[in-house]
Amino acid sequence: MGSMLRGRHFITTQEFEKSELDLILDLSSDLKRRFATGEPTPLLDYKTVFLIFFDESTRTRNSMECGITQLGGHGNFLNPKTMQTAHGEVARDTARILSRYGHAIAVRHCTFKIGNAYLRKLAEFSEAPVLNLQDDYYHPMQVMADLMTIREKLGTNTRKLKVGISWAYAESHLKPLSVPQSQILLFPRYGMDVTLAYPEGFDLMPDIVETAKKNAEENGTKFEISHSMDDAFKDADIVFPKSWGGFYVSDDKEEIMRKVRENRHWICTPEKMKLAEKHALYMHALPADRGREVVDEVIDGPQSVVIDEAENRLHTAKAVMALTMGGRP
Ligand code: CP
Repeated sequence: MGSMLRGRHFITTQEFEKSELDLILDLSSDLKRRFATGEPTPLLDYKTVFLIFFDESTRTRNSMECGITQLGGHGNFLNPKTMQTAHGEVARDTARILSRYGHAIAVRHCTFKIGNAYLRKLAEFSEAPVLNLQDDYYHPMQVMADLMTIREKLGTNTRKLKVGISWAYAESHLKPLSVPQSQILLFPRYGMDVTLAYPEGFDLMPDIVETAKKNAEENGTKFEISHSMDDAFKDADIVFPKSWGGFYVSDDKEEIMRKVRENRHWICTPEKMKLAEKHALYMHALPADRGREVVDEVIDGPQSVVIDEAENRLHTAKAVMALTMGGRP
């Protein structure tokens, strides 16, 4: 079963055939059922995944740690500040050593123009799969959980569903581009029409947008860009209002935050939700800036599926680990 994915690096969904992503989704659902019934799933007995977090995390770290435990293996959490990385040890050496000890190196590194390059360097030298736990460009673990949740709620035929991916106001921190970039790449491959909306100054990376457009063309779906939040919500089946920093447009974090504050009206409210279909799902990778990105009435309301979406991080993470670290010998 795992022969197509065994030993592969999982850095962006774009590097996987749709049939391979389907396999991840199938196994995620299977592992979810088996977890619900308490059935043991010792697919990765005695295997170790190293978990290197350059950035904070609640869902990703814990879904990976619980996930590997449930598969019979061990997650070794590593803070780069306590590794020799802090003294300048290079990715090449970290990759060569850790991949002699264990069975995957999973990394979160979201610093713009640095994170993905670090993962690619690890992948070049690692003898074991490198798993992306979010970098500056991609968050493949999140988008697989998003897709699993959409299929559970609206059915596996996702063709012609309209997805509104909108920038939203937040001040907690400047969030990476990786979630919306992963969504615009993946959803057209599953037949969904995407409207991407953001204020001036919050462009995503042009090469990723071009690839997303190509994915849409190849799959006969619509991909539109707008500077109005309403366009993303209008008649949508699913909305993802979420903040991201304008990292592509500016290197100056104060300048980006000034632009963020100019757009504090980009908030997901019940009025915005009324523009979408009655059955529309409100989704968010979390953490959400409550009262800024979204008001409580929406995120705690009947259209919100954020807790199921977060739960699915566990099942999809387990499937990715089982297929890349394990699989047919
Ligand atoms: N969605 C997500 O990646 O959550 P964490 O930042 O808590 O891992």
